[in-house]
Amino acid sequence: MVVLDQDYSIHEYDVVIIGAGGAGLRAAIEASSSGATVAMISKSMLGKAHTVMAEGGAAAALANKDERDSWETHFRDTMKGGKYLNDWRMARIHAQQAPDRIRELEQWGAVFDRTPSGLTSQRNFGGHTYPRLAHIGDATGLELIRTLQQRGIHMGMDVFMEFTVRKIFKSEGRVTGCFAYSRNDGSLHVFKAKSIVLATGGATRCWEICSGSWEYTGEGYALAYWAGAEMGDMEFIQFHPTGMIWPPSVKGILVTEGVRGEGGKLLNNEGSRFMFNYVPEMYADEFADTIGEAEAWVEEVIAGKLATKRRPPELLTRDVVAKAINSERAAGRASEHGGAYLDISWRDEEEIKKKLPGMYHQFKELAAVDITKEPMEVGPTAHYVMGGVKVNFDTQETCIGGLYAAGEAATGLHGANRLGGNSLSDLIVFGKIAGEHAATSAKDIQEFKEIPESEIKEIIDDTLAPLFREGGENPAAVVSDLRKMMQDKVGIIRTKSLLEDALSDLDILEERGKNVFGGSGKTYNPGWHQSLEIGAMIDVSRMCTLAALKREESRGGHTREDFPIPDHSHWGKVNSVISMNDEGEMDISFITYPPIPSELRKLLDSDDLHEEE
Ligand code: FUM
Repeated sequence: MVVLDQDYSIHEYDVVIIGAGGAGLRAAIEASSSGATVAMISKSMLGKAHTVMAEGGAAAALANKDERDSWETHFRDTMKGGKYLNDWRMARIHAQQAPDRIRELEQWGAVFDRTPSGLTSQRNFGGHTYPRLAHIGDATGLELIRTLQQRGIHMGMDVFMEFTVRKIFKSEGRVTGCFAYSRNDGSLHVFKAKSIVLATGGATRCWEICSGSWEYTGEGYALAYWAGAEMGDMEFIQFHPTGMIWPPSVKGILVTEGVRGEGGKLLNNEGSRFMFNYVPEMYADEFADTIGEAEAWVEEVIAGKLATKRRPPELLTRDVVAKAINSERAAGRASEHGGAYLDISWRDEEEIKKKLPGMYHQFKELAAVDITKEPMEVGPTAHYVMGGVKVNFDTQETCIGGLYAAGEAATGLHGANRLGGNSLSDLIVFGKIAGEHAATSAKDIQEFKEIPESEIKEIIDDTLAPLFREGGENPAAVVSDLRKMMQDKVGIIRTKSLLEDALSDLDILEERGKNVFGGSGKTYNPGWHQSLEIGAMIDVSRMCTLAALKREESRGGHTREDFPIPDHSHWGKVNSVISMNDEGEMDISFITYPPIPSELRKLLDSDDLHEEE
């Protein structure tokens, strides 16, 4: 029920879900099915989420393509890919529950590609030992969203589209609601809630070259941090190795890892398959070091056999491949526009169009390249934040009562580097868990709490302020400078001096951000929206920079030119935690997860664990 109270509306829901991508939808379905009243608040139109950028598939050990696969191997691959900084408890839950969540999606109508015998088809992806990604061509995230949306709208939840949440209210250590405004008409809204689920995705718009669209400005992280939640692992940013790089207008758009999963070869300007030179020691036994071996593997896979040879090095983990492309560029071997060539044209034309229809059209329409005949040009693009809000592994609750986080908004599962395909399964596994626990804990709360008028007034004033700063700077200039700075100083390769410079630059950008003029109208005013995003973008960028400065080693999605070697004895055992101190400043500390129990430890590669160090 909406009750008009002066100049804002008040809504009451047991569970408010912020974000309508895969994690938000899955949480909303679960909470609704347990009888809770649910509001889903979406910054964008329903269905337009970064989830659709996970194109190549959802990882789950269904063992449909290779009977040797199991949750144990999926657990092992996820831990190894994350360089052992993962919360092993989340990695176990994820590996164990992902197959059921995929089967459930099928029951709800997801049209997965099939094997000749009618099972859900699975494809190879980087760092996965077996073909594990259940997929729908190269539009898996899109089909996942479509399926969850279709299921969700029949559950009776209310959807508030094109609303941005600006504050989470709490009282006595528990959430009481949130404040949002409508991006269309500028109307103001207070949502009283018994529980809140943050399913707001990540923050890769803080970098100049990224795969995310305009929504990805990190509000979820900032909302949690401002409310007193802990943020973990914020130094670990995934640069997906293959984004489009040409023409300039499409720079960053994702080129699915599915291309490499289907046999795509990475080449430098000398025509050399350079990935053979970048196989890290920890993967030396698993990846081919000769072209003959790699090609034999591909032939076996195409012939539908259980592959017995080692995988091609193009299927190494994303951190390794992105850095290799970067190194080739630094050595003067880049493609024409500064990246690498990705060639799938050696495969049958009809197979390419069938398995990678999105990529075929994307390159044809955006770059006038026919991928069945010529190579694509690709380069790294900021794609995913491994860090996020720290949650209880079992319930997804944060350290604030009644505040939950799931999907990219949360941290823990992926450690220092996420394996491709593990995000879609993350969303459905932990989205479900968050929704279930949010609804259960809401049941324990009898009454909606009053939210003090002074707090509401304060956030309303803050929200309207950019409309009254005539003569102030254009917010687009601040955002553009921020993104360029993060790309240059907190990108794939970092150093102490770059990171220190970045922290100083952020202070200056913050001051500029406080003085932007968002234009004078509240209706359909993108300048106003952008003015309001800057605060979150600054704080999230600062978290990444601070954590990157403190971690003096290189690991996964964090590379320090001044500390190029992984330090297993210290940094390999600790995870960063950022929170706001009593003075309102950003503090950083480090924690260690409980020891991995022996029955799980024996699934891991003992050499990787460096126990003696
Ligand atoms: O390359 C891709 O299709 C992306 C998948 C993912 O990020 O999980």
